[in-house]
Amino acid sequence: MKKILFVTSEVYPLIKTGGLADVSNGLPKALASLGQEVRLVLPNYHGLKLANRPELVSLLRVDGHTVQLLETMLPGSNVVIWLVDCPKFFDVEGNPYVDVFGNSYKDNAERFALFCRVAIEIAMNRAQLDWKADIVHCNDWQTGLIPALLSLEYQCPATVFTVHNMAYQGIFSGLTAAMLHLPGQLLSVHGLEFHGMISFLKGGIAYADKITTVSPTYAQDIQTPALGYGLEGLLVYRSDDLMGIINGIDGEWNPETDPLIAQNYTANSLQTKSVNKTALQTRLNLPVDGSVLLLSLISRLVEQKGIDMLLDCLPELLLLPVQIVILGSGDKIFEQRLFELAAAYPHKMALTLGYNETLAHQIEAGADVFLMPSRFEPCGLNQMYSQRYGTLPIVRHTGGLADTVVDTLPETMANHTATGFVFNDAHAGTLLEAVKRATLLHSFPEVWQQLQTNAMSRDFSWQNSAEQYLALYESIE
Ligand code: ADP
Ligand code: GLC
Repeated sequence: MKKILFVTSEVYPLIKTGGLADVSNGLPKALASLGQEVRLVLPNYHGLKLANRPELVSLLRVDGHTVQLLETMLPGSNVVIWLVDCPKFFDVEGNPYVDVFGNSYKDNAERFALFCRVAIEIAMNRAQLDWKADIVHCNDWQTGLIPALLSLEYQCPATVFTVHNMAYQGIFSGLTAAMLHLPGQLLSVHGLEFHGMISFLKGGIAYADKITTVSPTYAQDIQTPALGYGLEGLLVYRSDDLMGIINGIDGEWNPETDPLIAQNYTANSLQTKSVNKTALQTRLNLPVDGSVLLLSLISRLVEQKGIDMLLDCLPELLLLPVQIVILGSGDKIFEQRLFELAAAYPHKMALTLGYNETLAHQIEAGADVFLMPSRFEPCGLNQMYSQRYGTLPIVRHTGGLADTVVDTLPETMANHTATGFVFNDAHAGTLLEAVKRATLLHSFPEVWQQLQTNAMSRDFSWQNSAEQYLALYESIE
């Protein structure tokens, strides 16, 4: 049995901005089911959704700050969560990374440096918790200083650093770096230094014993200049210690038991999925029409997700016999352009700006097709949820999308492996072609139903991924 400290900046259902929160819920739980002792560390943000008041378990002085450690449980599990309570940094309005206006917090470097230092105190059994980690599993740049600082400790636990997204790097000026009191030996070009600044992400990649990312294809993608963000050389250098492990999906995303949808269904009762389509069209004030192809998209509205490509082809796309429902929030410019189109095509397009977990489930259950035209995608969860719900994904061939969706081609239809539609070039035109392909196939109900059955029979459970992480932990001690 391993003692695993899983350090993360978000975890569902306490706080979520994206897929990292889902992974931070699913993976620790799956590791615990495999008999491992997993503890999670998370900042005690303002607005955490907690069922009970957490218990105060420790009081520390770290880098000049007084920090309380509070203890709670990950709902539905025996995984303990330690909350790092430092109100000056974390009891602020806004999401974990940006303020209410969408601007990064000015003190992000200090916020997450303190978070990392506290995680180290816990991992090294210096936090009066009577617990020492065997493995510290770090996630994304917010935890990148942990492998770096731990590398200087005597008898330190082994470290795994998982890259969920290379696009977010935690780069700060030399001036900011000076405020973090980092030991000089970490600041060299072989360490945190990045073009005269420091990069938290680079700290994770340079110093962790093992580096993972969330799909095998993305593990290759980030070793190229196009998606390596200047760290491709380091990643190539560390490629023997780098691997891709695809994320799993949570049991909550199951059409058979989902309490949030109008009608539960399985691959054997697919005809009843249409009840969810009607409910969705009704809820979103679209004409109720069973025959129209109902397209959907749930996403952060950012360039990564190919929203600009979708916007560029939407006017033409809406001439097809389709409707589209979109749920998302993000860049104001995308929100505005989508808003204008939705106002212009009220009978064909329904836009919900904001974050809505319930509606996300109802869309997965009610739509026929899920769009994910990402420019890059480390893993992506919605294409897996969609397959689970028999809602065929249209995805671009990149990262985890390439690894989890099988394109509909004559041979994949014949051997029943086809589960969606994959296109290559990042252009509005190729996306539109894929939608046309789906529209055509949708007019053959038996073919469509076979594709849905193929998609629904895929196994995206966490157990498989957790076993791979466990094997990795075992390889480094
Ligand atoms: P990323 O982490 O890059 O945003 P993922 O596909 O890994 O992409 O995960 C996104 C997660 O966030 C999914 O669980 C998705 O359902 C959810 N999500 C994104 N936007 C919204 C929204 N506006 N409302 C509800 N859920 C959302
Ligand atoms: C990131 C990626 C997404 C991935 C998620 C969880 O947010 O953008 O592709 O699924 O992390 O690993």
